This record gives sequence, C-alpha cells and structure tokens, in this order.
Amino acid sequence: MSDKKSWEEVAITAARARAEQESRSLWRAEGTPPFNYRWEHLKAVVAIAETLAQELGADRDVVRAAAWLHDLAKEEIAEGRDSHGEASAQEAKKILEATDFPPEKIPRVMYAIAQHVGLFRDEPLQNLETAIIWDADKLSKLGATSLVHYLMTNPASVPGITTERYFAQYRDWLETAARIVSSMNTPPGRKMAEERYQFMQRFYRQLAQELGQGG
Ligand SMILES: [Fe+2]
Ligand SMILES: [Fe+2]
Repeated sequence: MSDKKSWEEVAITAARARAEQESRSLWRAEGTPPFNYRWEHLKAVVAIAETLAQELGADRDVVRAAAWLHDLAKEEIAEGRDSHGEASAQEAKKILEATDFPPEKIPRVMYAIAQHVGLFRDEPLQNLETAIIWDADKLSKLGATSLVHYLMTNPASVPGITTERYFAQYRDWLETAARIVSSMNTPPGRKMAEERYQFMQRFYRQLAQELGQGG
C-alpha cells in the first residue's frame, strides 16, 4: 500500500488555492470575493468531463485529474502568447508525481491539459481523454450554468454594467458560442453543445423582446 497522498484530494486543494488567488485578484478583494469564477468553472468542467468519460468509456483518472488541473497556471503568458496549457501541464505533473496517481498515466493528463487552450478548432482532437477535456472546457462556457457564471463575474470585469450593455455583449457572445459548438470533438459533446446553444438563443430572444430590441 502506497504511503503517498490521495491524488484527488491534493489536486482539488491545489486547484482551489489557485482559483481563490485568481478570484481575489479579479475582485481586488482581501477576504472572500463575491464570486469565485475559476472554482465554479472547474467544478462544471469536472462534472461534464465525468459524464462524457462515462458515456465514451474513457479513463476516469486521466479525465478527472486533467479537468481539476487544466487551468492551474491560467495567467501564464510566454513570449506574448497564452501558454497556460503547457504551464498547467508542467504543474500538474509535479503535483501528481507526489501522490498515488498512477505514474504511467501522467503523460496523458499532461497532453490533455496542454491541448485545451483556445475556443475554436478546425480538426477534431483524436486522443479520447484530450477530446473530452476540450469538449468539457468549452461546454462549461455554454448553457444555463455559464449564464450564471457570466452574470456573476461581469461586475468585476465591467464595472457599471447595465442591462442594455449586457444584452449587446450577449449578442456578440452568441456568435462566438456558435463557433464553439462547431469545435466539439465527441458526438455526446456536440449534442450537449447544441442543446445548450438552443437555450442561449431562447434566452437572447426573450431578453431582446423584453428590452424592445427586436432581436
Ligand atoms: Fe484554460
Ligand atoms: Fe478552463
């Protein structure tokens, strides 16, 4: 029996600490910030990834570890480009190596994390766990939960936001979201994305109607 620590406990603790740090800086808060977006995002990604993993018969350890740890180094920029995928993969490796996580699976976790960055892609990802992490990460930006995340975070990034301004932002976001839907790798991911997108369209139309904006 290994005397190393339980990997999931360690991964969750590390992910939560980084999420809290990011959230305090976003809200410029000393104590508990009004909303911890990163933590909510991670919980959503883990739940979606787990569902997809079950449906597609993927490795549960690889998928859960990658989901918890994929945004550890969210702020990382190297040579002017977003390098948080590679940086998070390296941090995840160090964290998992010190736990009871099966060492032979660590490279798959790292690969899935390194590949998750961006919102769109032309070619589907071939590796199953990597494809699932991409889909789960993007799915977390679509649908009703994402709407809560967006609304709760908005005042931190756009002080003085108004309903009309939010409406205009949401119209732009819908265009981006349509492209996110087409970037899904797996059939269940695609189906979930389409359902979530339909909800977003309904919400947008209702809001347009109530604001007299004609959609
Ligand atoms: Fe990310
Ligand atoms: Fe993410």
